[in-house]
Amino acid sequence: MEGLSFPKDFLWGVATAAHQIEGFNYKSDWYEWEKKGKIKDGSSSEKACLSENRYLRDIDNIKNLNLNSYRFSVEWAKIETEKGKYSNKQIRRYKDMILELKKNSIEPIVTLFHFSLPSWFSEIGGFSKVENIKYFTNYVNKVVKEFKGLVQYYIIINEPMVYLTQGYLFGEWPPGENSIEKTYEVGKNLLIMYDKTYNLIKKIDPYTKISIAKHTSVYEPYNKLSLKDRLATNKVRNLFDHVFVDSILKQKILPPFGKEELLNHNSDLDFIGINYYTKRYIKYDNEKNFDIKTKSNHLTDIGWEFYPEGIEKVLDRFSKYDIPIMITENGIADEEDRYRTRYLLITLEKIHESMKKGIKIIGYMHWSLMDNFEWVEGTSMRFGLYRTDYNNHLMTLRNSGEIYSKIAKENSISESFLKFIK
Ligand code: BGC
Repeated sequence: MEGLSFPKDFLWGVATAAHQIEGFNYKSDWYEWEKKGKIKDGSSSEKACLSENRYLRDIDNIKNLNLNSYRFSVEWAKIETEKGKYSNKQIRRYKDMILELKKNSIEPIVTLFHFSLPSWFSEIGGFSKVENIKYFTNYVNKVVKEFKGLVQYYIIINEPMVYLTQGYLFGEWPPGENSIEKTYEVGKNLLIMYDKTYNLIKKIDPYTKISIAKHTSVYEPYNKLSLKDRLATNKVRNLFDHVFVDSILKQKILPPFGKEELLNHNSDLDFIGINYYTKRYIKYDNEKNFDIKTKSNHLTDIGWEFYPEGIEKVLDRFSKYDIPIMITENGIADEEDRYRTRYLLITLEKIHESMKKGIKIIGYMHWSLMDNFEWVEGTSMRFGLYRTDYNNHLMTLRNSGEIYSKIAKENSISESFLKFIK
């Protein structure tokens, strides 16, 4: 067949997160945050996409896209509403969902911590206290035992660096802190948490493949001729994209999170989850050390540069680890669906090219299945292959979704689609 074909076991999927789609996450730190009026468009996650009760609809939509995998998160704040009080009903719901996915030959990829946390956990200091890690591992112990033999892929933490900077440095997300010391301290604790959780999951179910979903960007100096901007760019690239990964792989808590203290549970990354969206420009700043900038006349709805081809640079950079890569997120805020198809096609072409160069890429999860609650941006930023009508919760497939479904079905990007990006 003409076009670009993919390996036969390639995972074609979409990604979501519980708080963003399920609704009714009343006992979570994020719901509290929303009630404090922190959401830019004044919306809330109260109903979101109603997926808690409509996961069968979601699975139908995934089937309609011809996908063979689905990355979603389980919500700790619903599973353990109060310390030590577990909801069997919620655990059962996730298990039923996993069984339904398996019945339809859709591989579940389960995220255990995707930004939202139980209110009770954040009230006792969340991950800022090392002694609190046991609460997370208790919850993981409970769910992984239930899912044993059903789930092959686990993501323990979604985007640790985004969680740290938004929550502890810039204070825009819960818990709303502005402290560099706290940011590093929590970073250190997340590494300890990863290390313990990895080990725990492997003990329960040795056949699992475990990782994190690493937020990545292309970073470039704001002014290429400025040495200060160039040095700042290297620092930011290393800090944001590599220190967390390097710490796990070297089994040491690297600076600035620690002083090379050893991680002692023999954890690893069985694959690397890559979330890629855009490019950022780094400008040296006297007071803050650096500033993150955009400069382009093609910005997406959320103000990020349209730069799908950058995924190739990120893949090149991460290929040094020689560990299989899964694209765990990639997408674009584009309400009118004017650029999503182009974004998707360029991305997939670059992934294909990277694979030809010998980089092992096992799958691609598009963010997202449908428009959903986009954190502080609320429901106004739309990343979905399906359009969500928040009045009646009907989902309509966008044109880009049609294209993606054809690619997944053929396991290949046809010549006629490639023409579109030539
Ligand atoms: C997050 C998602 C988010 C997406 C788009 C990623 O940072 O993991 O939860 O919706 O980007 O902003």
